[in-house]
Amino acid sequence: MPSPLKAPFAPDVLRAVADTFGTPTYVYHAPTIRDRIGRLRRHLTGVPVRLLYAMKANSHPAILQIMREEGLGLDAVSPGELLLALRLGVEPDRILFSANNMTDEEMHLAHERGVLLNIGELSRLEKFGRAYPGSAVCVRLNPQVGAGHHEHVVTAGARSKFGIPVEQTDRIRALADAHGLRIVGLHHHIGSGILHTAHFWEAARVLLEAARPFEGLRFINLGGGLGIPYRPDEAPLDLDNFRDALMAPLRSFHAEYGAPALTFWFEPGRYLVGEAGVLLVRVNTLKSANGRTFAGTDSGMGHLVRPAMYGAYHALYNLSNPDGALQPYDVTGNICESGDLFARDRPVQTIREGDILAILDAGAYGMSMASEYNLRPLPAEVLVTEDGPRLIRARRTPEDLADALLATLPRT
Ligand code: LLP
Repeated sequence: MPSPLKAPFAPDVLRAVADTFGTPTYVYHAPTIRDRIGRLRRHLTGVPVRLLYAMKANSHPAILQIMREEGLGLDAVSPGELLLALRLGVEPDRILFSANNMTDEEMHLAHERGVLLNIGELSRLEKFGRAYPGSAVCVRLNPQVGAGHHEHVVTAGARSKFGIPVEQTDRIRALADAHGLRIVGLHHHIGSGILHTAHFWEAARVLLEAARPFEGLRFINLGGGLGIPYRPDEAPLDLDNFRDALMAPLRSFHAEYGAPALTFWFEPGRYLVGEAGVLLVRVNTLKSANGRTFAGTDSGMGHLVRPAMYGAYHALYNLSNPDGALQPYDVTGNICESGDLFARDRPVQTIREGDILAILDAGAYGMSMASEYNLRPLPAEVLVTEDGPRLIRARRTPEDLADALLATLPRT
């Protein structure tokens, strides 16, 4: 039995988008983003909470505008993200700047724009203290508990480059004292694509314990990492369990810490946008060889690198033949690499050349990680709201790419 389309879109809407705007095209569903924000908010209760959106998951300005309308702040991790957020009109005090391997220039840029820095290295904390004694700062800790859907996305623990190990809080406090720094926030982010509440709580327990000796905290930022179910057999993160396991300890900490204004921050990316996005591609080449059937598409790892990079699973749906019998395919891209696959041996409704496939759950870390490798232009992007689909980024042409590169040559 062909599976139903487990996406927020009606198949007709996606077929119409493909007809109107061509392929490859990312399509995002604004109401689903708002729904995820609401769901999360409803479960983060009992203590003051602030939500930031980790803009690296999908930094299209139209998506950032939705976040802004919904009252979220932003987690920015590079000067590009920071400037985009500021130029969109996001107030500096609603942005947290968490650049990794931060340079002096990046430090000055954020501080001069009035944005709070989140610093995860003692050496940078010292440089910040020397440059801006008496300033407020947030410190990223490594609670030594990490988790994630793949080892490449585990961002805490013994092998992680992120954060100051929690055993070094004495040194953090000594540096802060030496430069009069006010540590107003403590942060951790333990990894991405986490579907089990226990990891969040284990790490939070460490962070809360480490926070006790710090006076004057305005917030504790518990990061992002909330997963979404990509595989049909994966259960969604149990938000009731998340609330029960996490919010009660946060409530007790809040009461004991004795600062009513203390706020708990979360900075999810994937949870808010992942399921709201689909990548539409067209199959242009069918090939049977060595007992396999390859369905070759007009997109590839340059547009959605997660399968090639993490072996990530994205559900596939044949929009052009929804009732077709399921058959196994290797669904490939058009990039000159053997790892350029969307799926291997995957049952999909029978595919014919010209069919449009929807690659689901592609709203997070899809377009934001896309490249023009092999000089293939990036996909177009479409946002679907209550008013219908709207093109939010046009596809560039190969001529555009060639023009841009040739323009770098010295004029003769
Ligand atoms: N905060 C910080 C400091 C982060 O580094 C990240 C993600 C987030 C929040 C948001 O994490 P999320 O809620 O989206 O899990 N490219 C990978 C994911 C890398 C995540 C990196 N950091 C993927 O496609 O699975």
